[in-house]
Amino acid sequence: MCGIVGYIGNKDVGSVVLVGLEKLEYRGYDSAGIAAVEKDGLFVKKKMGRLSNLYALLENRRIDGHIAIGHTRWATHGRPSDENAHPHTDCKNQIAVAHNGIIENFKELRSELESKGHKFLSETDSEVIPHLIEEYYDGSLFDAVLKAIQRLEGAFAIAVVSSLEPDVLIGARKDSPLIVGVGDGEMLLASDIPAIVSHTHRVIILDNGEIAVLKKDGYQIFDFNGQKREKAVTIVDWDAKSVELEGFPHFMLKEIFEQPHVIEANLHQYLRNNEFMLLKDTNLRRLLMNKRSILIEACGTSFHAGMVGRYLIEKLAKIDTRVEFASEFRYREPVIDQNVLIMAISQSGETADTLAGVRLAKEAGLEVLSIVNVRDSSIARESDYVIYTNAGPEIGVASTKAYTAQILILTLLALELAVLKGHITEEDAKGYADELRLLPGRLAQILEKDAQIQHLAEKYYNFNNFMFLGRGINYPTALEGALKLKEISYIHATGYASGEMKHGPIALVDENMPVVFVNPKTSVYEKALSNMKEIEARGGRIISVVTEGDEKAPEISTDVFYIPKTDELLTPIVSIVPLQLFAYHVAVLRGCDVDKPRNLAKSVTVE
Ligand code: G6P
Repeated sequence: MCGIVGYIGNKDVGSVVLVGLEKLEYRGYDSAGIAAVEKDGLFVKKKMGRLSNLYALLENRRIDGHIAIGHTRWATHGRPSDENAHPHTDCKNQIAVAHNGIIENFKELRSELESKGHKFLSETDSEVIPHLIEEYYDGSLFDAVLKAIQRLEGAFAIAVVSSLEPDVLIGARKDSPLIVGVGDGEMLLASDIPAIVSHTHRVIILDNGEIAVLKKDGYQIFDFNGQKREKAVTIVDWDAKSVELEGFPHFMLKEIFEQPHVIEANLHQYLRNNEFMLLKDTNLRRLLMNKRSILIEACGTSFHAGMVGRYLIEKLAKIDTRVEFASEFRYREPVIDQNVLIMAISQSGETADTLAGVRLAKEAGLEVLSIVNVRDSSIARESDYVIYTNAGPEIGVASTKAYTAQILILTLLALELAVLKGHITEEDAKGYADELRLLPGRLAQILEKDAQIQHLAEKYYNFNNFMFLGRGINYPTALEGALKLKEISYIHATGYASGEMKHGPIALVDENMPVVFVNPKTSVYEKALSNMKEIEARGGRIISVVTEGDEKAPEISTDVFYIPKTDELLTPIVSIVPLQLFAYHVAVLRGCDVDKPRNLAKSVTVE
């Protein structure tokens, strides 16, 4: 969480940094700030609240300089306020630092620095960094930063500028992401690619324990001992347009509508002429074929994708599969042996708990396969094997297209394993392949009926409690539908397995608690139908998501949304789309900030 941007070059530095911060606001948005080196010294402005408040404070003032850093914050230590906003400065206002992460030993460092006369202005852990650099400065900013970071415990990505050395921008990272953008006569630093992709596609991904020294016309990378490192420049294939709204009112809606294309792109890569391509890597194939069980660890929406994955892998490939919240897995002292494959699922590839789970597994000598969206992210790089979800940048805080892409990958993986293990025939596999290829069209059919979902949202947006129910492979769909609604509309929504409802949640059912029931035609359809009847009998209002042609469920529903028919195992990819749209429209009608819901951040890089 928190986004950092740094720039050195001849463009309008204020604009480059502020527009870069706009692209990183998904990482946090409770305050923002900028620091630039001008002729007369450091220029620093920071403001609580959204970036728009900072823009207002700056009143179009043009920054006169060639170097600046900026920060958009998700508060950890210290409430959101002007004083706690970054960048933070030293006592003489000569050194400015933007920080993403948590400095665990900041209390000790702060006491030590205060005893030496340093004056602190904020409640943050981050403020110790500029003061440490000030303490160590002896004619070389690089040396001072190097000494300062050796004192830091915890996680950090930092960007540093100083009026003492106006031609150098320094970045360093440990456990929080930071990349360098290599331009012509300009260099950038950022927490993530969207901030730089409109300036350059040439990127260096900093590893843990690396420090970058950037000048207008060149860069050098060192380790924390000051030893020079050679780093490869990666070419990022993102289109700059992919981080723009392109006519949509919100990124979430744009990303929901991108799903047919995302599914298509993944099928193009991983399914060729009925041949599944994920396990072409013989080592990965051997690994998966030899493991007795799989443990999936993930957070949030990725966790729900993992739950669908469990149904798919167990049903098709017959491998015992467990799914765990990464935040629980990492502290549970799990009993895992060499027969277990750890699978991490993450859109960002930076979620602190999921990354910690990967590291825990590696320390135990286990191999890790990750399913990740962001290329070269920490989880991708620290895993033994990676499958990319090719969903493109996901900016809306509520995950949508990454979710359906993750489930698609899990489906392809389960099918390929099932064929290799002889649990399904080539002919069965071809049947699935045919159905898979129809998925983009099926999703497009749902999107065409967006107005119908908007109409449902208009009818229900004033309710304050919702229940989402599903069964079998669509139980995770119910959980994900509830999560979507609560995270962006702030409506209380609970997701439950419909068969479990009678053990408690049914007590909540009345005319004020609409029940969204996900019950497409699957092997548990009739069972779930009985659960629907139990709700109807108690006066509950049911909004059902059912398969076209279904006549029984609509009879007992107040409202119905029909999804196209598909194979049972593919229903989770289809049935979630109306729920995403429903959550979106409800949130818009309630006047919520859909792309930046309160208290949340897209990439949770702190535990
Ligand atoms: C945050 C985001 C969610 C996301 C979760 C896991 O909570 O708001 O949308 O599902 O993190 O993120 P990951 O990047 O690991 O999938």
